[in-house]
Amino acid sequence: MTIESRSMAALDPADLDARDALAFHRERYIIPQGVIYLDGNSLGPASHAALTGLETAAKEEWAEGLIRSWNTAGWFDLSLATGNRIAPLIGAAAGQVVVCDTVTLNLYKVLHAALAMQAGRRVIVAEAGSFPTDLYIAEGVASTLPGVTIRLVGRDADTFEELIDEQTAVVLINHVDYRTGLLQDMARVTARAHKAGALVVWDLCHSAGALPIALDECKADFAVGCTYKYLNGGPGAQAFVYAAGRHHDKLKQPLSGWWGHARPFEFETSYAPSPGMRMFLTGTQGILSLRALAGALDNWKDVDLQALRHKSLQLTQYFMDLVAEQCAGFGLECITPRQDKLRGSQVSLRFEHAYPAMQALIARGVIGDFRAPDIMRFGFTPLYIGFADVSRAVAILKDILQTEAWKDPAFSTRASVT
Ligand SMILES: Cc1ncc(COP(=O)(O)O)c(C=O)c1O
Repeated sequence: MTIESRSMAALDPADLDARDALAFHRERYIIPQGVIYLDGNSLGPASHAALTGLETAAKEEWAEGLIRSWNTAGWFDLSLATGNRIAPLIGAAAGQVVVCDTVTLNLYKVLHAALAMQAGRRVIVAEAGSFPTDLYIAEGVASTLPGVTIRLVGRDADTFEELIDEQTAVVLINHVDYRTGLLQDMARVTARAHKAGALVVWDLCHSAGALPIALDECKADFAVGCTYKYLNGGPGAQAFVYAAGRHHDKLKQPLSGWWGHARPFEFETSYAPSPGMRMFLTGTQGILSLRALAGALDNWKDVDLQALRHKSLQLTQYFMDLVAEQCAGFGLECITPRQDKLRGSQVSLRFEHAYPAMQALIARGVIGDFRAPDIMRFGFTPLYIGFADVSRAVAILKDILQTEAWKDPAFSTRASVT
């Protein structure tokens, strides 16, 4: 029997925790006393390893090593070395991933590069419900290239299948939807795009570190993703870019900065791209951030991604089942798919008073987030969340709904970041 076929609500959380083979990971993370942290899908927590990486970089490599550390501490190659450590987590062979800049900037690079490879094709296919930066960047890229237009699933047609055709240059798609948690079928969408001659860019922000990913196996062309969410690299940690090795010779990325030059320290007048993934670099990278991320990645050396996925599905289902049982009648609507194969590692509840209700939860130590206009979003990160956390979070949610604690005016003042 699969876990999706019967309710988990009656199960004892202590029992589930006792049988949890991933429980030993929790002590590696710093979760403040009294907090149930259900927002690791937005900002992963600090870990002892990340703080050690940061401290070593600051106190030894910077303070003592000074400029020598570009060579002696491996700073110059850190983007590539860190990319190679992320590669196995996203199903990529070495030499195809680099860590640099932000997801937003990297989207610009790969979208532009993909369009340049597709002479005669001028259409970008994306999702109307995409994370907005993806759409803004698609608009920006289109504005610099004559004749490029954008078609959106959810606005111009209902499905990718209907929109992808022989005019499609590139499909830009979110692996897991940031609002609903819907998981796309990477193999199917990639194959469909390729059949029409289109390339695919995957946004892995909500799947990297949350589930096993098979970029090479699915023959994906490009991908970008966050390292500050499920990979716990720290606020603003650099993003990763993947470009399939088979494309490297034809690639040209538009932000031609000196770090992507074939010979940056020759200080030549004209740009000559570096071969391989180094070409995706632009300028000097934040080394302290990279070192925090490199430390955080030490915690992934012994993570079994299949076991991670299994526990993630259990956690999300347990939460959905408990909410269905204990919070019925308060006007909550779960908008996350119940089917395992369609769900990432988050659960989103639609509620008319989502903002104040989330603030009331945070005040009680249950940290999730709010996505406009009416979504309470909860991330379930198997390395440091247990079943007792889930059970307690739902009990607190029920209490807040029952007592209408969210009506306290203090919870209605919108902060800049929600
Ligand atoms: C799905 C998705 N894409 C892109 C981004 C943008 O990332 P960044 O701000 O690091 O450029 C985010 C950030 O949360 C995201 O969730």
